[in-house]
Amino acid sequence: MIIYQNKSLKPYNTFGIDVNAAQFVEVKTAEEIQVLCRSFSLSERKFLVVGGGSNLLLTSNFEGMVIKIELKGLDITKEDENHIWVKAMAGEAWHDFVMFAVDHNYAGVENLSLIPGCVGAAPMQNIGAYGAEIKDTCDHLFAIEIATGNLVKFTNAECKFGYRESIFKNEAKNKYIIYSVVFKLNKNPRLNTSYGAIKQTLDTKRISAPSIKDISNAVIEIRKSKLPNPKELGNAGSFFKNPEISNEVFDDLKLKHPEVVGYPTSTNMTKVAAGWLIEQCGWKGKVVGNTGSHKNQALVLVNYGNATGQEIWDLAMAIKESVYLKFGIHINPEVNIV
Ligand code: EPU
Repeated sequence: MIIYQNKSLKPYNTFGIDVNAAQFVEVKTAEEIQVLCRSFSLSERKFLVVGGGSNLLLTSNFEGMVIKIELKGLDITKEDENHIWVKAMAGEAWHDFVMFAVDHNYAGVENLSLIPGCVGAAPMQNIGAYGAEIKDTCDHLFAIEIATGNLVKFTNAECKFGYRESIFKNEAKNKYIIYSVVFKLNKNPRLNTSYGAIKQTLDTKRISAPSIKDISNAVIEIRKSKLPNPKELGNAGSFFKNPEISNEVFDDLKLKHPEVVGYPTSTNMTKVAAGWLIEQCGWKGKVVGNTGSHKNQALVLVNYGNATGQEIWDLAMAIKESVYLKFGIHINPEVNIV
């Protein structure tokens, strides 16, 4: 295990922000992580764990240790008539794991095709798209407790999943490094095609009885048409979460803007599409210096080349303020700001 000094983080974040880490290390085994926890007293130092770096905005040099997770492996751990349990190591690319499931006809994660990032980061923010979330298939996971170096099991319930939330973003923040995730996938699939765009894509292709692969292909096509490829244009997917507002506030909004996009989340709350709010404020496709809001999806902020993290943050705050001034609604970042 080599500890590098003053390493550029540009290749390790999908926004492509060029800042340095004071120290940088790649870890490939539990033992290497345990050495950092036990002999290097990680819990007493400043550190940042990075998987694919796809949900991260770096605003300045990082004056601590960046730990890049390179734990690899996919294994079937259990099987019964209806289900199969697949253990994916934290450093596996999320999409490679999804393709493994799709190619073997194991259902449950096909709607989450082509999401950037690594398996270990997926439970942190309960990744979700097109009507599915990781909480629907994550059976349990193992994480290394930083204070002790011990491997600890978290059941699905113990992960406390919510909309882009988990225990690892709240009370367990900076206390664990996710090591592996065990998914319970379905051998007799119940496919989820309820999301409008999936249905439309399948209809266009005249597919009435879709396979797991058909759904995955539809999701890949939709994502490619809407979301910029971080390898071509720096971005971190949705920059903000979709805000939840009371039905009263939503009804009021609908009176003024009948076309507003919202989905009920409980009997008295509605989730509003932040992309719609941002577009209404005139940001969609707007270029501000080296940054901007993407032309196909206003919720995605992009780096057109040499943006600093601070420039992207300034744009985000200007967008947040204008949405608040126009609608009285607070939108909050989904990405981790460091
Ligand atoms: N919309 C606009 N203008 C825009 C963007 C969206 O009016 O510029 C409207 C659309 O017309 C649509 C609605 O907003 O009616 C929702 O748009 P979309 O289906 O693109 O989904 P989203 O709510 O903006 C969420 C996730 C995405 C995920 C999609 C698809 C969040 C914060 N984002 O976006 O996740 O891919 O649903 O399920 O929940 C991510 O988290 O990085 C991400 C890309």
